[in-house]
Amino acid sequence: MAVGIFDSGLGGLTVLDAVARALPEVPFVYFGDNAHAPYGVRDADDIFNLTCAAVERLWLEGCDLVILACNTASAAALRRMQETWVPDDKRVLGVFVPLIEALTERQWGDNSPPREVAVKHVALFATPATVASRAFQRELAYRAIGVDVEAQPCGGVVDAIEQGDEILAEALVRSHVEALKRRMPMPEAAILGCTHYPLMEHAFRAALGPEVAVFSQANLVAESLKDYLNRRPEFLGSGRVSKFLTTGDPQRVSDKATQFLRRPIRFEAA
Ligand code: DGL
Repeated sequence: MAVGIFDSGLGGLTVLDAVARALPEVPFVYFGDNAHAPYGVRDADDIFNLTCAAVERLWLEGCDLVILACNTASAAALRRMQETWVPDDKRVLGVFVPLIEALTERQWGDNSPPREVAVKHVALFATPATVASRAFQRELAYRAIGVDVEAQPCGGVVDAIEQGDEILAEALVRSHVEALKRRMPMPEAAILGCTHYPLMEHAFRAALGPEVAVFSQANLVAESLKDYLNRRPEFLGSGRVSKFLTTGDPQRVSDKATQFLRRPIRFEAA
């Protein structure tokens, strides 16, 4: 009954922690494509091919349902995967929709026309590929009107996290927040639109100030997965064992994961 959690690297661990807390009886298999991170600077074909390869590996682990705990893959590859590649007996879900439902105060499956919502000025922090895809704005436009989104491509942050360089990551976060605030001085809400960014949430919050509501995905995705599995229990796959797989060097990736998550995590070669 395992579920697969995929990310280009360490960021999806923020989602894994939340889903494992929400569903303690479910085994999770995590796949970090650390050898190919960051995805955020790759083109859409490249992201599609790498993400499909990772998802196939998770299917081999008995995970019929895979969560792309990666905004870049969700934005640049998920729709194409669902339309052209995922067979009927498998499911691949992304992390965008639960976040946008929370921002626009909607319940799952509420397909009513777009309407006015409380927030009017939203800052989006994401990878260059996610920003370029405009997937966030597209999903938002299905549900809300009159929301002004200012997007900041946060080049370098994922790389610094993957290298374990917290000081550089913090400095980059500060400079990206300053750049965004020059264009939108008073956002009401900020979206951490990359699953690596909650690892630097303290730096985002400090640079944004206390009056900005910060939305990050982990808990929202956990609630939404719980709800999905209640409705579709047939997608709990045959896998029985939780594990962490990486395409990178398992020792190095385990050390970085332990550093950022502040608990011991042991990866094995994918
Ligand atoms: N955690 C991925 C995301 O949510 C990072 C993508 C990357 O590797 O650049 O977008």
